[in-house]
Amino acid sequence: MGRRGVVAVAAVGVAVAACVVAGVVVGKRVKSRRKWKRVMGVLRELEEGCETTVSRLRQVVDAMAVEMHAGLASEGGSKLKMLLTFVDNLPTGSEKGIYYALDLGGTNFRVLRVQLGGQRSSILSSDVERQPIPPELMTGTSEDLFDFIASALQQFVEKEGNGSEPPPIRRRELGFTFSFPVKQTSVSSGILIKWTKGFAIESMVGQEVTESLQRALDKRGLDMRVAALVNDTVGTLALGHYHDEDTVAAVIIGTGTNACYLERTDAIIKCQGLLTTSGGMVVNMEWGNFWSSHLPRTSYDIDLDAESPNPNDQGFEKMISGMYLGDIVRRVILRMSEESDIFGPASSRLSMAFILRTPLMAAMHEDDSPELTEVARILNDVLEIPDVPLKVRKLIVKICDVVTRRAARLAAAGIVGILKKIGRDGSGGISSGRSRSDIRMRRTVVAIEGGLYSSYTLFREYLHEALTDILGDDIAQHVILMVTEDGSGIGAALLAASHSSYSVDTVQPL
Ligand code: BGC
Repeated sequence: MGRRGVVAVAAVGVAVAACVVAGVVVGKRVKSRRKWKRVMGVLRELEEGCETTVSRLRQVVDAMAVEMHAGLASEGGSKLKMLLTFVDNLPTGSEKGIYYALDLGGTNFRVLRVQLGGQRSSILSSDVERQPIPPELMTGTSEDLFDFIASALQQFVEKEGNGSEPPPIRRRELGFTFSFPVKQTSVSSGILIKWTKGFAIESMVGQEVTESLQRALDKRGLDMRVAALVNDTVGTLALGHYHDEDTVAAVIIGTGTNACYLERTDAIIKCQGLLTTSGGMVVNMEWGNFWSSHLPRTSYDIDLDAESPNPNDQGFEKMISGMYLGDIVRRVILRMSEESDIFGPASSRLSMAFILRTPLMAAMHEDDSPELTEVARILNDVLEIPDVPLKVRKLIVKICDVVTRRAARLAAAGIVGILKKIGRDGSGGISSGRSRSDIRMRRTVVAIEGGLYSSYTLFREYLHEALTDILGDDIAQHVILMVTEDGSGIGAALLAASHSSYSVDTVQPL
């Protein structure tokens, strides 16, 4: 072969090699495009599954109002328990003195002392001590749990100076916020129906809650009377109403979610003959257990529910509250990582339930750095997924957005459902048939609390947006969401004061 021939062969060789390389590159690109398409398919499916159009939200509103009626009509008539609270009067402002509260029900446990000045909105001081609940106590024995609570209260009381000691004849009084479904037998006693939010002490179900606490207090020689046993929503309503008399309902969106509101006693049909001096009573809806076929449910929700310790229970809560949102996102990421290798080699962390807690998810969602460095950090540190390209980090933000937006909009629909039931949604009530323009909308305040609402800006914005979407600007401007701080606990202290054995006429009709 001549020189030319060699050159020609070499040229052909180079061309073939180039073709092979190009082929490999193109093949890789095609493959990765196909994988990305699959991932986009998963995202689209998620978006469709989580869709909350205004018409769907209105169906949820109607379903909520209908279920409220059903739950008030008969015991077990609805998944909404619509529990009586025996709070038929809310604090007026005339409450005076020092009262205590214990607040149990979320990730943190609180002990409070509140000094009331005898005038509306005159809380002279409130001391709050918070501590996380040791996880082993959530599934241990009731004796251990109540002993922990009593010991925290004892230490708190022992730290007090002499100045705040009550006069010798007066026993200290306490409001106990116990944020689980309780069948109340009086304003200060009740039986635990079931646990939620990861608590599971089976022997406690069906037991008297106040007695368990009182036993633990007595054992430690703490001379205190439990004057009020309240749900966190009820405490929040009490504080909300103390500050603003137009407060008609309270909502918690934190680890769990729930709402309570003021109802007329004649509407509580399941308790015929229920008489209160005020003609009304606060009803604890336990809306976390609300269910309707109109709720937008995905395969991730179904799996989360099936693998939870309380399947078929707390369906609304599992779509909305802080205990679950992070885990829904984790499940979506896991599915995407199974469909493709966009997250690199499979991380075993992704299969660990509840490893992606909602505050971390919120931090990723709200990462506004150009390179999404917080997303990268959390993926690396928590899920052990390193070196994720920007495009994939953006995808993570999008997943968080879809899950949170659905949650916030459903919570808004729940709130409007309550307003509809009590005729404050501008439609004149569930069966009035009056047109919106006929109704003069009254100022309506809903007290609201919980980390998801107060610390997660995008969640809060989506909730507000949905309220306006559903109600329309004209009506929505009369609905005020008022954030209370430590309302669940301070409100319990207020209710202890208004139900104190020493108080005279400190209550006001609803
Ligand atoms: C409980 C409610 C509580 C809510 C918010 C739910 O899991 O069942 O009683 O009000 O969480 O803490």
